[in-house]
Amino acid sequence: MRLILLGPPGAGKGTQAQRLVEKHGIPQLSTGDMLRRAVAEGTDVGKRAKAVMEAGDLVSDEIVNQIVSDRIDAPDCADGFILDGYPRTLFQADALERMLSDKGLELDAVIELKVDDEVLVDRIAGRYTCANCGAGYHDENLKPAVEGVCDKCGATEFKRRADDRPETVKARLWAYYKDTAPLIGYYHAKGKLSGVDGMAEIDTVTGEIEAILDRL
Ligand code: AP5
Repeated sequence: MRLILLGPPGAGKGTQAQRLVEKHGIPQLSTGDMLRRAVAEGTDVGKRAKAVMEAGDLVSDEIVNQIVSDRIDAPDCADGFILDGYPRTLFQADALERMLSDKGLELDAVIELKVDDEVLVDRIAGRYTCANCGAGYHDENLKPAVEGVCDKCGATEFKRRADDRPETVKARLWAYYKDTAPLIGYYHAKGKLSGVDGMAEIDTVTGEIEAILDRL
């Protein structure tokens, strides 16, 4: 199964992608995570991406397309993958189309998570992750069972993202509406798009996504 999770910052793409990974055993390809890793490791790509990401702007299509093309060739993607945060521009969507066709692959579905802007800002402000395994949490909506201890790996260190400051979130939302929202029409025209109410509880959203996948 080859799937795109589409939606604005904080819509729940990463949260739902993690659940799909657990249920379907295919990897999550998050361009945001890949770029953050490159920044942390100080690679050439990381150096070029750092300031752009901290400002909430989009990293160049050329860089991101190359990262995804290389990642899709890895053996763990043979049975499919979940794209989270890619494509993000019409140019990236066209590049993905060509990339998949060159590799003899096809996209199965694009699932749009719809969430109101005010809710997005609250979600991002409250978000944090386990510093060891990356499991995602939220100050109000998704706390660990034991306060201060990761449910998944038992670690006690957590971190918040550098681009989750309110002023950067505004820039990210702007980038979404300007560059990424046109993909909704693009995939609708291709007959690949399904929409989900991303305002619902996390388990309900997961159920709606699974129902869409069952119908494929
Ligand atoms: P990226 O890492 O992709 O961030 P994003 O798209 O802004 O999305 P987020 O990760 O912020 O949100 P999410 O939808 O995954 O929500 P989450 O599940 O965490 O990109 C970061 C940057 O990298 C970009 O700004 C850009 O610079 C660069 N970049 C990345 N890809 C690029 C590309 N293709 N091209 C160019 N540049 C690129 O949920 C958020 C919070 O809400 C969590 O705390 C969660 O617990 C909670 N939550 C989730 N669902 C629910 C629910 N249903 N109800 C209540 N709470 C919920």
